[in-house]
Amino acid sequence: MPFPEERPRRLRRSSALRRMVRETELKAADLIYPLFVVNGRGVKKAVPSMPGIHQLSVDKLPAEAKELQALGIPAVLLFGVPDHKDALGSAAWDQAGAVPRAVSALKDRYPELVVITDVCLCAYTDHGHCGIVEKDEILNDPTLELLAKIALCHAAAGADMVAPSDMMDGRVAALRAALDREGHSHVAILSYAVKYASAFYGPFRQAADCAPSFGDRAAYQMDPANGREALREIALDLQEGADLLMVKPALPYLDIVRRVREASPCPLAAYNVSGEYAMIKAAAERGWLDERRAVLEALLSIKRAGADLIITYHAMEAARWLP
Ligand code: PBG
Repeated sequence: MPFPEERPRRLRRSSALRRMVRETELKAADLIYPLFVVNGRGVKKAVPSMPGIHQLSVDKLPAEAKELQALGIPAVLLFGVPDHKDALGSAAWDQAGAVPRAVSALKDRYPELVVITDVCLCAYTDHGHCGIVEKDEILNDPTLELLAKIALCHAAAGADMVAPSDMMDGRVAALRAALDREGHSHVAILSYAVKYASAFYGPFRQAADCAPSFGDRAAYQMDPANGREALREIALDLQEGADLLMVKPALPYLDIVRRVREASPCPLAAYNVSGEYAMIKAAAERGWLDERRAVLEALLSIKRAGADLIITYHAMEAARWLP
Protein backbone atom coordinates (compact mmCIF):
# COMPACT_ATOMS: atom_id res chain seq x y z
CA MET A 1 0.00 0.00 0.00
CA PRO A 2 2.23 2.89 -1.15
CA PHE A 3 1.47 6.59 -1.01
CA PRO A 4 -0.68 8.14 0.38
CA GLU A 5 -0.79 5.60 3.26
CA GLU A 6 2.99 5.08 3.32
CA ARG A 7 4.82 8.26 4.34
CA PRO A 8 8.46 7.82 5.42
CA ARG A 9 8.50 11.49 6.39
CA ARG A 10 6.36 10.64 9.46
CA LEU A 11 9.52 9.41 11.19
CA ARG A 12 11.57 12.45 10.21
CA ARG A 13 9.33 15.09 11.77
CA SER A 14 11.39 15.86 14.86
CA SER A 15 14.91 15.35 16.02
CA ALA A 16 13.68 12.99 18.77
CA LEU A 17 11.94 10.79 16.20
CA ARG A 18 14.96 10.82 13.94
CA ARG A 19 17.17 9.80 16.83
CA MET A 20 14.87 6.88 17.68
CA VAL A 21 15.12 5.37 14.22
CA ARG A 22 18.77 6.19 13.54
CA GLU A 23 20.56 3.06 12.33
CA THR A 24 24.21 3.99 12.65
CA GLU A 25 26.11 5.75 15.38
CA LEU A 26 29.54 7.29 15.14
CA LYS A 27 31.34 7.57 18.48
CA ALA A 28 34.76 8.54 19.77
CA ALA A 29 35.43 4.91 20.73
CA ASP A 30 35.35 3.98 17.02
CA LEU A 31 38.26 6.24 16.15
CA ILE A 32 42.00 5.64 15.85
CA TYR A 33 44.31 8.67 15.52
CA PRO A 34 47.51 8.42 13.42
CA LEU A 35 50.66 10.14 14.72
CA PHE A 36 53.90 10.87 12.85
CA VAL A 37 56.89 10.55 15.15
CA VAL A 38 60.33 12.08 14.54
CA ASN A 39 63.63 12.20 16.43
CA GLY A 40 64.75 15.24 18.36
CA ARG A 41 63.11 17.30 21.09
CA GLY A 42 60.43 19.95 21.01
CA VAL A 43 59.59 19.22 17.37
CA LYS A 44 56.10 20.05 16.13
CA LYS A 45 56.37 20.48 12.38
CA ALA A 46 53.27 21.10 10.30
CA VAL A 47 52.63 18.81 7.31
CA PRO A 48 51.69 21.24 4.50
CA SER A 49 49.57 18.72 2.58
CA MET A 50 47.57 17.82 5.71
CA PRO A 51 46.39 20.96 7.53
CA GLY A 52 46.17 20.35 11.28
CA ILE A 53 48.60 17.39 11.22
CA HIS A 54 52.17 17.58 12.51
CA GLN A 55 55.31 15.55 12.76
CA LEU A 56 55.99 15.30 16.49
CA SER A 57 58.97 14.37 18.61
CA VAL A 58 58.46 11.84 21.39
CA ASP A 59 58.33 14.48 24.16
CA LYS A 60 55.28 16.04 22.45
CA LEU A 61 53.26 12.82 22.51
CA PRO A 62 51.99 12.71 26.11
CA ALA A 63 50.13 15.99 25.50
CA GLU A 64 48.43 14.40 22.50
CA ALA A 65 47.57 11.31 24.53
CA LYS A 66 46.06 13.48 27.24
CA GLU A 67 43.81 15.18 24.73
CA LEU A 68 42.82 11.87 23.13
CA GLN A 69 41.93 10.48 26.51
CA ALA A 70 39.80 13.51 27.35
CA LEU A 71 37.96 13.06 24.04
CA GLY A 72 37.39 9.33 24.56
CA ILE A 73 39.52 8.23 21.60
CA PRO A 74 41.01 4.87 22.61
CA ALA A 75 43.88 4.30 20.20
CA VAL A 76 46.76 5.75 18.19
CA LEU A 77 48.57 4.42 15.13
CA LEU A 78 52.25 5.39 15.08
CA PHE A 79 54.32 6.09 11.97
CA GLY A 80 58.06 6.77 12.22
CA VAL A 81 59.94 9.34 10.16
CA PRO A 82 63.65 8.46 10.62
CA ASP A 83 66.74 10.63 10.08
CA HIS A 84 68.62 7.86 8.39
CA LYS A 85 67.58 5.79 5.38
CA ASP A 86 69.40 2.90 3.72
CA ALA A 87 68.72 0.11 1.24
CA LEU A 88 67.29 -2.26 3.88
CA GLY A 89 65.57 0.31 6.08
CA SER A 90 67.63 -0.73 9.10
CA ALA A 91 66.49 2.23 11.25
CA ALA A 92 63.07 0.55 11.31
CA TRP A 93 64.16 -2.03 13.89
CA ASP A 94 66.43 0.23 15.94
CA GLN A 95 65.22 -0.15 19.52
CA ALA A 96 66.32 3.47 20.16
CA GLY A 97 64.33 4.74 17.16
CA ALA A 98 61.48 7.23 17.41
CA VAL A 99 58.65 4.67 17.24
CA PRO A 100 59.84 2.30 20.00
CA ARG A 101 60.64 5.30 22.21
CA ALA A 102 57.21 6.74 21.46
CA VAL A 103 55.55 3.44 22.37
CA SER A 104 57.24 3.27 25.77
CA ALA A 105 56.67 6.96 26.49
CA LEU A 106 52.96 6.59 25.78
CA LYS A 107 52.45 3.26 27.56
CA ASP A 108 54.34 4.50 30.65
CA ARG A 109 52.12 7.54 31.12
CA TYR A 110 48.90 6.31 29.50
CA PRO A 111 48.73 2.54 29.98
CA GLU A 112 45.06 2.52 28.94
CA LEU A 113 45.82 4.03 25.53
CA VAL A 114 45.90 1.34 22.83
CA VAL A 115 49.16 1.82 20.95
CA ILE A 116 49.27 0.40 17.44
CA THR A 117 52.39 0.66 15.26
CA ASP A 118 52.61 0.68 11.50
CA VAL A 119 55.00 -2.02 10.35
CA CYS A 120 56.54 -1.17 7.00
CA LEU A 121 59.88 -0.31 5.44
CA CYS A 122 59.02 2.46 3.00
CA ALA A 123 59.75 5.40 5.31
CA TYR A 124 63.11 3.82 6.22
CA THR A 125 64.44 2.71 2.83
CA ASP A 126 66.43 5.06 0.58
CA HIS A 127 64.43 3.81 -2.43
CA GLY A 128 61.09 4.31 -0.66
CA HIS A 129 59.67 0.87 -1.42
CA CYS A 130 58.02 -1.35 1.18
CA GLY A 131 60.44 -4.25 0.71
CA ILE A 132 63.94 -5.26 -0.28
CA VAL A 133 64.74 -4.18 -3.84
CA GLU A 134 66.77 -6.23 -6.31
CA LYS A 135 67.00 -5.12 -9.95
CA ASP A 136 63.86 -2.98 -9.62
CA GLU A 137 61.92 -5.93 -8.16
CA ILE A 138 60.46 -5.85 -4.64
CA LEU A 139 61.43 -9.19 -3.10
CA ASN A 140 58.74 -10.86 -1.06
CA ASP A 141 60.19 -13.61 1.12
CA PRO A 142 63.42 -11.92 2.28
CA THR A 143 61.35 -8.86 3.23
CA LEU A 144 59.30 -10.96 5.69
CA GLU A 145 62.32 -11.37 7.97
CA LEU A 146 62.80 -7.61 8.17
CA LEU A 147 59.11 -7.00 8.86
CA ALA A 148 59.27 -9.56 11.68
CA LYS A 149 62.25 -7.68 13.17
CA ILE A 150 60.28 -4.42 13.11
CA ALA A 151 57.26 -6.03 14.77
CA LEU A 152 59.48 -7.54 17.48
CA CYS A 153 61.13 -4.17 18.10
CA HIS A 154 57.72 -2.52 18.56
CA ALA A 155 56.41 -5.37 20.72
CA ALA A 156 59.49 -5.21 22.95
CA ALA A 157 58.76 -1.51 23.49
CA GLY A 158 55.26 -2.41 24.64
CA ALA A 159 53.02 -2.01 21.57
CA ASP A 160 49.54 -3.49 21.99
CA MET A 161 49.11 -4.15 18.32
CA VAL A 162 51.20 -4.16 15.16
CA ALA A 163 49.78 -3.21 11.78
CA PRO A 164 51.70 -4.46 8.73
CA SER A 165 51.04 -2.18 5.73
CA ASP A 166 53.63 -3.50 3.28
CA MET A 167 51.39 -5.93 1.32
CA MET A 168 53.99 -8.71 1.08
CA ASP A 169 52.41 -12.17 0.88
CA GLY A 170 52.71 -14.19 4.08
CA ARG A 171 53.59 -11.27 6.37
CA VAL A 172 50.83 -11.96 8.89
CA ALA A 173 52.03 -15.54 9.42
CA ALA A 174 55.63 -14.34 9.63
CA LEU A 175 54.77 -11.71 12.24
CA ARG A 176 52.58 -14.08 14.27
CA ALA A 177 55.30 -16.74 14.38
CA ALA A 178 57.99 -14.25 15.38
CA LEU A 179 55.84 -12.59 18.05
CA ASP A 180 54.80 -15.93 19.56
CA ARG A 181 58.35 -17.25 19.53
CA GLU A 182 59.64 -14.21 21.42
CA GLY A 183 56.96 -14.21 24.13
CA HIS A 184 54.60 -11.64 22.60
CA SER A 185 51.60 -13.88 22.05
CA HIS A 186 49.37 -11.15 23.55
CA VAL A 187 50.30 -8.63 20.85
CA ALA A 188 47.52 -8.40 18.26
CA ILE A 189 47.89 -8.05 14.50
CA LEU A 190 45.79 -5.49 12.65
CA SER A 191 46.35 -6.49 9.06
CA TYR A 192 46.16 -3.98 6.22
CA ALA A 193 44.62 -6.98 4.45
CA VAL A 194 42.97 -5.03 1.66
CA LYS A 195 45.23 -2.18 0.65
CA TYR A 196 44.87 -0.68 -2.80
CA ALA A 197 47.54 1.05 -4.88
CA SER A 198 45.85 4.40 -4.43
CA ALA A 199 46.45 8.01 -5.49
CA PHE A 200 44.84 9.03 -2.19
CA TYR A 201 48.06 8.28 -0.26
CA GLY A 202 49.70 11.34 -1.88
CA PRO A 203 49.61 13.74 1.11
CA PHE A 204 50.83 11.00 3.50
CA ARG A 205 53.96 10.52 1.45
CA GLN A 206 54.84 14.11 2.30
CA ALA A 207 54.09 13.51 6.01
CA ALA A 208 56.11 10.29 6.24
CA ASP A 209 58.59 11.09 3.47
CA CYS A 210 58.07 7.69 1.86
CA ALA A 211 57.40 8.21 -1.85
CA PRO A 212 59.05 5.50 -3.97
CA SER A 213 62.09 6.85 -5.84
CA PHE A 214 61.30 4.74 -8.92
CA GLY A 215 58.16 3.04 -10.21
CA ASP A 216 55.07 2.69 -8.03
CA ARG A 217 53.57 0.17 -5.60
CA ALA A 218 51.32 -1.62 -8.11
CA ALA A 219 53.38 -4.83 -7.96
CA TYR A 220 52.43 -5.34 -4.31
CA GLN A 221 49.38 -3.19 -3.45
CA MET A 222 46.01 -4.16 -4.93
CA ASP A 223 44.53 -3.07 -8.23
CA PRO A 224 41.68 -0.59 -7.58
CA ALA A 225 39.61 -2.45 -10.16
CA ASN A 226 39.41 -5.62 -8.04
CA GLY A 227 36.70 -6.48 -5.52
CA ARG A 228 36.69 -10.30 -5.35
CA GLU A 229 40.41 -10.24 -4.71
CA ALA A 230 39.72 -8.44 -1.42
CA LEU A 231 37.90 -11.55 -0.20
CA ARG A 232 40.88 -13.69 -1.13
CA GLU A 233 43.23 -11.38 0.78
CA ILE A 234 41.12 -11.44 3.94
CA ALA A 235 40.72 -15.22 3.83
CA LEU A 236 44.50 -15.63 3.67
CA ASP A 237 45.20 -13.10 6.43
CA LEU A 238 42.65 -14.72 8.73
CA GLN A 239 44.22 -18.14 8.14
CA GLU A 240 47.60 -16.61 8.92
CA GLY A 241 46.36 -15.24 12.25
CA ALA A 242 45.14 -11.66 11.74
CA ASP A 243 43.12 -10.40 14.73
CA LEU A 244 41.61 -7.42 12.94
CA LEU A 245 41.26 -6.61 9.26
CA MET A 246 41.57 -3.32 7.44
CA VAL A 247 40.33 -1.91 4.16
CA LYS A 248 42.31 1.05 2.83
CA PRO A 249 41.46 3.66 1.53
CA ALA A 250 37.93 4.02 2.90
CA LEU A 251 35.63 6.38 1.00
CA PRO A 252 36.41 5.29 -2.59
CA TYR A 253 36.13 1.66 -1.40
CA LEU A 254 32.93 1.57 0.68
CA ASP A 255 31.64 -1.29 -1.49
CA ILE A 256 34.69 -3.28 -0.40
CA VAL A 257 34.12 -2.39 3.26
CA ARG A 258 30.60 -3.75 2.90
CA ARG A 259 31.73 -6.95 1.15
CA VAL A 260 34.43 -7.66 3.72
CA ARG A 261 31.94 -6.98 6.55
CA GLU A 262 29.56 -9.55 5.06
CA ALA A 263 32.29 -12.09 4.43
CA SER A 264 33.83 -12.13 7.94
CA PRO A 265 32.80 -11.59 11.55
CA CYS A 266 36.33 -10.37 12.31
CA PRO A 267 36.61 -6.79 13.63
CA LEU A 268 37.05 -4.48 10.67
CA ALA A 269 38.87 -1.16 10.42
CA ALA A 270 38.78 1.24 7.49
CA TYR A 271 41.55 3.77 6.85
CA ASN A 272 40.23 7.20 5.94
CA VAL A 273 43.54 8.09 4.27
CA SER A 274 45.47 11.32 3.84
CA GLY A 275 43.99 12.20 0.44
CA GLU A 276 40.44 11.81 1.75
CA TYR A 277 41.38 14.12 4.62
CA ALA A 278 43.13 16.67 2.40
CA MET A 279 40.19 16.89 -0.01
CA ILE A 280 37.75 17.94 2.70
CA LYS A 281 40.28 20.33 4.26
CA ALA A 282 41.01 21.97 0.90
CA ALA A 283 37.36 22.41 -0.01
CA ALA A 284 36.53 23.73 3.48
CA GLU A 285 39.42 26.24 3.31
CA ARG A 286 37.86 27.63 0.13
CA GLY A 287 34.48 27.82 1.78
CA TRP A 288 33.07 25.21 -0.60
CA LEU A 289 32.01 22.73 2.08
CA ASP A 290 30.73 22.94 5.63
CA GLU A 291 33.72 21.15 7.16
CA ARG A 292 32.08 19.87 10.29
CA ARG A 293 29.09 18.38 8.51
CA ALA A 294 31.21 16.94 5.70
CA VAL A 295 33.63 15.25 8.11
CA LEU A 296 30.91 13.70 10.27
CA GLU A 297 28.95 12.55 7.21
CA ALA A 298 32.04 10.98 5.61
CA LEU A 299 32.98 9.13 8.82
CA LEU A 300 29.40 8.02 9.39
CA SER A 301 29.26 6.60 5.86
CA ILE A 302 32.29 4.44 6.63
CA LYS A 303 30.54 3.01 9.69
CA ARG A 304 27.31 2.53 7.77
CA ALA A 305 29.24 0.56 5.14
CA GLY A 306 30.23 -1.85 7.92
CA ALA A 307 33.49 -0.73 9.53
CA ASP A 308 33.80 -1.12 13.31
CA LEU A 309 36.79 1.21 13.54
CA ILE A 310 38.00 4.18 11.54
CA ILE A 311 41.61 5.30 11.34
CA THR A 312 41.34 9.00 10.62
CA TYR A 313 43.28 12.26 10.84
CA HIS A 314 39.91 13.85 11.64
CA ALA A 315 39.65 11.85 14.89
CA MET A 316 40.30 14.72 17.31
CA GLU A 317 38.06 17.26 15.62
CA ALA A 318 35.35 14.70 14.93
CA ALA A 319 35.32 13.63 18.59
CA ARG A 320 34.88 17.29 19.56
CA TRP A 321 32.05 17.74 17.08
CA LEU A 322 30.14 14.55 17.88
CA PRO A 323 26.70 15.20 19.37
C1 PBG B 1 53.17 2.71 4.21
C2 PBG B 1 51.86 3.38 4.35
C3 PBG B 1 51.23 4.28 3.49
C4 PBG B 1 50.07 4.71 4.14
C5 PBG B 1 50.00 4.02 5.34
N1 PBG B 1 51.11 3.19 5.45
C6 PBG B 1 51.69 4.85 2.21
C7 PBG B 1 51.80 3.96 1.04
O1 PBG B 1 51.49 2.77 1.06
O2 PBG B 1 52.26 4.49 0.02
C8 PBG B 1 49.08 5.71 3.62
C9 PBG B 1 48.25 6.39 4.67
C10 PBG B 1 47.55 7.62 4.22
O3 PBG B 1 47.57 8.00 3.03
O4 PBG B 1 46.95 8.26 5.08
N2 PBG B 1 53.21 1.57 3.43
